[in-house]
Amino acid sequence: MDNDKTIFNSLSTKKKIIIGNWKLNPKTKKEAINLVKDILNLHKSTNDIDICIIPPQIFISTIFDELNGINISIGSQNCHYESDGAYTGEVSIDSLRDIGVSYVLCGHSERRILFNESDNIINKKVKKVLEAGLTPVLCIGELLEEKELGLVNEVCNTQINIGFNNIKNENIEKIIIAYEPVWAIGTGKVCEPEDAEKIIKQIRETIISIYGSNIGKNIRIIYGGSVNGNNVKNIMSRDIDGCLVGGASINAESFNKILKYNL
Ligand code: PGA
Repeated sequence: MDNDKTIFNSLSTKKKIIIGNWKLNPKTKKEAINLVKDILNLHKSTNDIDICIIPPQIFISTIFDELNGINISIGSQNCHYESDGAYTGEVSIDSLRDIGVSYVLCGHSERRILFNESDNIINKKVKKVLEAGLTPVLCIGELLEEKELGLVNEVCNTQINIGFNNIKNENIEKIIIAYEPVWAIGTGKVCEPEDAEKIIKQIRETIISIYGSNIGKNIRIIYGGSVNGNNVKNIMSRDIDGCLVGGASINAESFNKILKYNL
């Protein structure tokens, strides 16, 4: 066990990450450029963290150009699980990589609920993103009814077990898991940071039990759901590897407050 600990300490390069998911905002190219410009003008975070912005896919290239080499990565809110073929309306991971995308959300609850994405489909997407050499952000989390029935751990375990199916051990720690209780997304009801930390610990234990201590400790598990400038410090100061931010990421001031969480 002690040996494990030493290995983990020497190998761990885990950085916290803050991801801003713009969802279906803003609507015009001009607004998207203004938003990223405002974020960059305010951006004075001295925190040593990874930062990622996930605009609507149609603005990815534009935002990438605006970033102009600044150390902020770009993500995609989705991708298809095949690289090419007769899939009208879908976006290929190869195209996303070609225009500078580094991270891809897989299985955001809005995709699961509104677009009927199953754990199996999400698993195919996670595998595709890994194959392309990009970082999947696998979103998991329970519905309010499931929480009330005491099923949080069960739901998270199922989503992880299927989401990770047939992924080589060496690729597991390249995945980021975002624990996002569905009842906390866009509702202003933040999961108590203490509770989020406990659930994340349980998720990590599940991964340790399947993949061993090094992988389980190195994998980044972040929290999402009504993160804002007021609660971010409490969340980030815990054993939580970062935040996935929705609403508060489409306002430059509130996103900047989040990026400067401990200043
Ligand atoms: P929210 O969204 O911060 O607006 O709750 C989080 C998310 O959807 O990832």
